[in-house]
Amino acid sequence: MREQPRRTPEREAYYARIKEKNLAPLWEVLKGIQTDEPKPHEVPTLWKYDRDVKPALLESGGVISAREADRRVLILENPGLRDYFFPCITHSLFAGLQMIMPGEVAPSHRHTQSALRFIIEGEGAYTAVDGEKTTMRPGDFVITPSWTWHDHGNETDQPMVWLDGLDIPIVDVLNCSFFEPYPEDQFPIDRPEGDSVARWGTGMVPDGHRHRAPTSPILNYSYARTREALDRMAARGDYDDCHGLKMNYINPVTGDWAMPTIGTSMRLLPKGFSGTPFRSTEGTVYVVVEGKGRTVVNGTSFEWGPRDIFVVPSWCWHYHETNGSEAVMFNYSDRPVQEKLGLYREQRGKRA
Ligand SMILES: [Fe+2]
Repeated sequence: MREQPRRTPEREAYYARIKEKNLAPLWEVLKGIQTDEPKPHEVPTLWKYDRDVKPALLESGGVISAREADRRVLILENPGLRDYFFPCITHSLFAGLQMIMPGEVAPSHRHTQSALRFIIEGEGAYTAVDGEKTTMRPGDFVITPSWTWHDHGNETDQPMVWLDGLDIPIVDVLNCSFFEPYPEDQFPIDRPEGDSVARWGTGMVPDGHRHRAPTSPILNYSYARTREALDRMAARGDYDDCHGLKMNYINPVTGDWAMPTIGTSMRLLPKGFSGTPFRSTEGTVYVVVEGKGRTVVNGTSFEWGPRDIFVVPSWCWHYHETNGSEAVMFNYSDRPVQEKLGLYREQRGKRA
């Protein structure tokens, strides 16, 4: 254990004197920053969708319109980060639930923060990105890359809800935030629906392709395709002891993560799965798509079902169990950033 230097009246007086010169003693603060291992401020938290989140979201429809709010989003605020610069779910990532009512439009804009949309409930509303529109269904993973024009609309007769995952704290720490509204509600559509999957998502790329952007050119990784792939692979039964059958979403042009700052995955946990403990430096947000089970995080059990959302902070031991049926869960974290900086670590444990 490294000991904190003793505080004496002489030292306190010295610290007060140098503070006026914008100087401070490193030895008073160093041990709080160079910790022996990650000490995340965020805490493990579960949001029960049907019981708590959905009623609050439906109520928000009467509180403010999507147009006035710009984006009608309820933030998933981690109780351990209430004093952070902005309400976030982990130190590096934001999560919110956006609702769009029938007939509403969330007007077009662009920003340098990258965003993912993970569809929770409803079917048929759209997201449009840089001239391509995609119809959204539960379990779809939709990307709006940094600095691309995007708008959302709901031409159905049902409210639609999706999770917004953004890299707001990462862009903030780098001081790179830019934002611009588009002069019209909708950016002009000039490509047919499914265009990006046809060009980039079939194991082929256009001859002479020039895709150089760091984000995947696929607009919508549909749940129908993801689920079918998981089903086929599950037939072989080669489940990982910790993660079940876990597949990462990639940029098909580079093989890298689909987004430069946010790593996304989908996993299938078989019926009766009882995982071995795991921890990593990626604070991870989980969204349950199908099935019921529980995740035990540092000894605390979180019981989850479809549409529930929970967060496992960095370096917390946890394991997953299913209950009576198989389960499918989406997750996202800042792992691409950690990997590129050589910071990512993980560890596997043993069940007692
Ligand atoms: Fe946006």
